Amino acid sequence: MSLTNDFKILREKKIREIENVLQEYLPKQRGRQKIIMEVMGYSLLAGGKRLRPMLMKETYRLFGGSSEALKPFMAAIEMIHTYSLVHDDLPAMDNDDYRRGRKTTHVVYGEDMGILAGDALLNYAFETAFKAFTAEPQDSLLIGRALGVLGEKAGIYGMIGGQVIDVKETGCAVSKEVLYTIYELKTSALIEAAMMIGAILGGASQEEVKTVEKIAKNVGIAFQIQDDILDVTSTSDILGKPVHSDEKNEKTTYVTLLGLNEAKKAVEKKSCEAVSLLKKLPGKNAFLEELLLELIHRDR
Ligand code: IPE
Ligand code: IPE
Ligand code: MG
Ligand code: MG
Ligand code: MG
Repeated sequence: MSLTNDFKILREKKIREIENVLQEYLPKQRGRQKIIMEVMGYSLLAGGKRLRPMLMKETYRLFGGSSEALKPFMAAIEMIHTYSLVHDDLPAMDNDDYRRGRKTTHVVYGEDMGILAGDALLNYAFETAFKAFTAEPQDSLLIGRALGVLGEKAGIYGMIGGQVIDVKETGCAVSKEVLYTIYELKTSALIEAAMMIGAILGGASQEEVKTVEKIAKNVGIAFQIQDDILDVTSTSDILGKPVHSDEKNEKTTYVTLLGLNEAKKAVEKKSCEAVSLLKKLPGKNAFLEELLLELIHRDR
């Protein structure tokens, strides 16, 4: 069996483990408002690549972490990411009706529930992350730092900030610099949060957390450029979401700005930068290295 096949099998196993964590932390359906728990589950448990919790766990393993504080954060980062997708698909934003291989949340449950399910996932992410304090009371300082990172990277200086510029620049001529800022914020920020939290809870030094942030920034930029490429070159069956969404929404992307070939080169360059920085860190995690390299050629 080739190494790549081994990698794929291992990744599937890790995805199933993450899905068990998500199931564990999903709120029970109860109360007159129980529809909201159903809607949260509809978007969260649809098939996604689970990249952010995976990167969190693998960075944590790189630093030799072994505490119960990690699991609530893995669930929390995927909840925040999922909320960002539910809102990104709303008619007021990208107006897409297909996500993770099924109809988008607002198409099935209505726009009101789409907005509320996004709000609910964001809030419940923090309710979930706070559970780390009871899971590992002796790690409360590290948990506090991790919460700070999660809040900031998801917020106006992070993902939300990026979505704001993305929306405001729609239909405009965007420079490469501005586009880079959009990607750094809308996509890299949550990937930075994922990997930095893994590092912090794994016991990394401040210096090492800074290096991890740089690695994640490169991963995020590469990931978003590849997302733009796939929007042009893939099919909705493979992606589980519509293709040509960017064209429909008159978005400037790396592909429209630089062409497909330059965009592909940029993905490779950023991913290789990430891997070479990773190799400078003291620990070793072969799966994480392969995961970062695999993202260059990902087809979904
Ligand atoms: C989609 O993220 C949004 C971007 C930042 C490009 P993913 O491609 O990770 O989506 P899922 O989680 O696999 O559905
Ligand atoms: C959105 O970028 C990134 C988010 C923060 C949700 P896109 O709008 O390109 O993501 P997709 O293609 O809909 O997944
Ligand atoms: Mg968008
Ligand atoms: Mg979109
Ligand atoms: Mg896209």
